[in-house]
Amino acid sequence: MARLYSVFASMLLGMLTVFPMTGAAQDASLLFKVYCARCHGFSGHGDGADAGTLKTQPRDFTDCKLMRTISSDTMFKAIKGGGTAVNLPSDMPSWSAGLSDDQINSLIAYIRGLCPQ
Ligand code: HEC
Repeated sequence: MARLYSVFASMLLGMLTVFPMTGAAQDASLLFKVYCARCHGFSGHGDGADAGTLKTQPRDFTDCKLMRTISSDTMFKAIKGGGTAVNLPSDMPSWSAGLSDDQINSLIAYIRGLCPQ
């Protein structure tokens, strides 16, 4: 599964090189697909391919009632420092080594976009 995922990720990255996209929103959507979708699902429902291998079900970002109770600050900490930074399980990995603060902020905006106000 990990191997399949990396093949898929390199395909997406290859597409990015061949068809460069512009705009933070499109970048965030691609980042989400490459790094987050395997757990949180391609449409954010928490039903990604790897979700079944985890002890904790990944957050369903389309549960808008719940998502409105989570501040952007908490989301930032969870993405940058991993689940343990916000008292959630370590099943949510830390992205401090892989994603810049700007990329994390654009991902938060993307997740917010799944629950239009
Ligand atoms: C290996 C699986 C996995 C990957 C990959 C993953 N997550 Fe998570 N994520 C989780 C789990 C599990 C939780 C904890 C959910 C819970 O406790 O309800 C979580 C929680 C979160 C939360 C916290 C929500 C809250 O309740 O505060 C955010 C935000 C989040 N993930 C964003 C992301 C983003 C953005 C990415 C991609 C950069 C990502 N996740 C990649 C599994 C994953």
